Amino acid sequence: MTESTNLFEPELAPDRDPLRNLLPGRFLVLDGPDGCGKSTQFRRLVEYCEALSVTVEQVREPGGTQVGEQVREILLDPDNEMMVVRTEMLLYMASRAQLIAERIVPAIERNRLVLADRFISSTLAYQGTAGGLSPEEIAKVGDVTTGGTVPDLVVILDVDTDVAAARISGELDRMERKGRAFHERVRAGYLAQVERDPQRYLLLDAGAPEEVVFDSLLAGLRTRLA
Ligand code: TMP
Repeated sequence: MTESTNLFEPELAPDRDPLRNLLPGRFLVLDGPDGCGKSTQFRRLVEYCEALSVTVEQVREPGGTQVGEQVREILLDPDNEMMVVRTEMLLYMASRAQLIAERIVPAIERNRLVLADRFISSTLAYQGTAGGLSPEEIAKVGDVTTGGTVPDLVVILDVDTDVAAARISGELDRMERKGRAFHERVRAGYLAQVERDPQRYLLLDAGAPEEVVFDSLLAGLRTRLA
């Protein structure tokens, strides 16, 4: 199900790229396991949108608002290792509720492209498949949290767990410290979501070189948003 692009496809001039008209007013999520290269692809997509003159509202989870950034600190603080998974799920959702109200809904109303670094797909993978909460329980809280604001497309950057681990450097946060088996389940959690709802998800092989991943991302967006 991984989408690839024709390597010989000529590069599109910005004024001929259909994404110029397809992206405004949409809500896209970039997601995947820690170390999947999401930040790099996110930055490249933002730069590409700028070249297309598409205004992007960039948001990240947890965080993206004053309240959400404080919640992020609690969530990622290694000293909070006693935090139970249900608390964790509710805090991620709390940060999300604030982000939706303060930034996501207003940006969609202004016809901007909302580009989110993680969303409920992360909760389903980390607190759900990896953490043990049922998808039904997360979906119930998710419905209360989002009030119906859901992404048009969720892009999953899939990568082998060992390759991903090798990409993470510096001091590990509370989530990154959870160990290999946990992160293997996170990966499986993403793949299960794609399988359950292939219409809403775009699966990319993020083990490929950066350039190739980005080309598949653009090709996937052109097809899926058309
Ligand atoms: P980041 O490193 O991409 O900023 O994400 C922070 C960490 O939080 C990352 O390890 C994934 C995790 N996370 C969850 O466990 N559940 C969630 O709902 C979200 C948004 C992130």
